[in-house]
Amino acid sequence: MLWKWRASRIRFRVLSKERPCPLPSPPSAPSTRHSRRVAGPEVESRRLGGFDVSILGLGTSRLASMGSGRSKRDAEALLGAARDCGANFIDTADTYGFTAAERWIGELTASDPDRWVVATKTGLPTVDLPGPFRVANQPLKKARQLRGQTFALETKQRRRTIDRSLRRLRRERIEVFLLHLPPARVVNDDEIGGILQDARSAGMIAEFGVPSNDLATIQAAHRAWGSVCTETQVNANSDAGNALGALSSFDVIANHIMAAPARPADAADHRESPARMLRFAAAVPGVKVVLTGTSSVEHLRQNAAAFDDPVTESDLIT
Ligand SMILES: NC(=O)c1ccc[n+]([C@@H]2O[C@H](COP(=O)([O-])OP(=O)(O)OC[C@H]3O[C@@H](n4cnc5c(N)ncnc54)[C@H](OP(=O)(O)O)[C@@H]3O)[C@@H](O)[C@H]2O)c1
Repeated sequence: MLWKWRASRIRFRVLSKERPCPLPSPPSAPSTRHSRRVAGPEVESRRLGGFDVSILGLGTSRLASMGSGRSKRDAEALLGAARDCGANFIDTADTYGFTAAERWIGELTASDPDRWVVATKTGLPTVDLPGPFRVANQPLKKARQLRGQTFALETKQRRRTIDRSLRRLRRERIEVFLLHLPPARVVNDDEIGGILQDARSAGMIAEFGVPSNDLATIQAAHRAWGSVCTETQVNANSDAGNALGALSSFDVIANHIMAAPARPADAADHRESPARMLRFAAAVPGVKVVLTGTSSVEHLRQNAAAFDDPVTESDLIT
């Protein structure tokens, strides 16, 4: 982390008052690379890599998680609501629900795959046993973690990992492929960079990136592999979220918008409404899509309505 929380907050206030932050420019002319228009009602769209993405994206870490109590029918309702709200971006990972989230998204977007821009992640150890053996997924995953397997893309399975996500998602290409919170040293691994670049050349993935909550890792991935996409926490408590300008050269997928205060003493600073927090994240330069990790259709609709009015610089001021 670059700054202590308090220092970054003071800096943030000074920056937001004295030096107006450039807001992301309005959507540019469609690139010839791989354009995809946002479908549905009018929602603000921004350019992430070669794609037009809705400012609100659906995060799916709770969609199929063990213990979340969510069923495929709930997932269908959420995706339907996202579609109705004009959102076209879905963020998932092979680990979410031990691959169930990817499979459900694959099924639920099979009728209109081109309408969606899907980001998925890989690298964290996961286990995907079939049918009645699924109950063993969690203990086996724990056992792998205890054996020190923290980032599985260091095995020989890398390319097959992309193939499996493609099959589960029922897509011909993954629009945004992300390494799942890799240790900082991974960005020095030329072999992993080569695999990502090969997968892109082969048309299996379009964009790739390194999510991290450490700005130095995001910058190192850019230097090493030229990746511009990243996913990171953006809220009034996060260092990266406050590093105004530092993220502006990246295409940022913002998560943990609703993060709890870092310390109870700071709770008084966090009385903002969900809409306020969503708009704050959307105003941070570099942010192209703001994820909502809600599992409630009603909250999803409220969160989409937060963007009824255009986001402006004033949304940065807390
Ligand atoms: N790259 C990574 O390693 C990484 C890490 C974490 C997350 N992610 C991604 O980011 C996504 C977002 O995750 P997050 O945990 O940061 O989600 P979040 O959107 O910041 O927080 C979700 C929480 O906020 C509540 N909430 C959302 N909208 C609300 C509303 N309008 N009113 C009241 N409560 C509301 C939800 O409750 P309800 O369900 O009741 O609405 C839930 O408890 C994940 O799904 C995942 O796709 C990625």
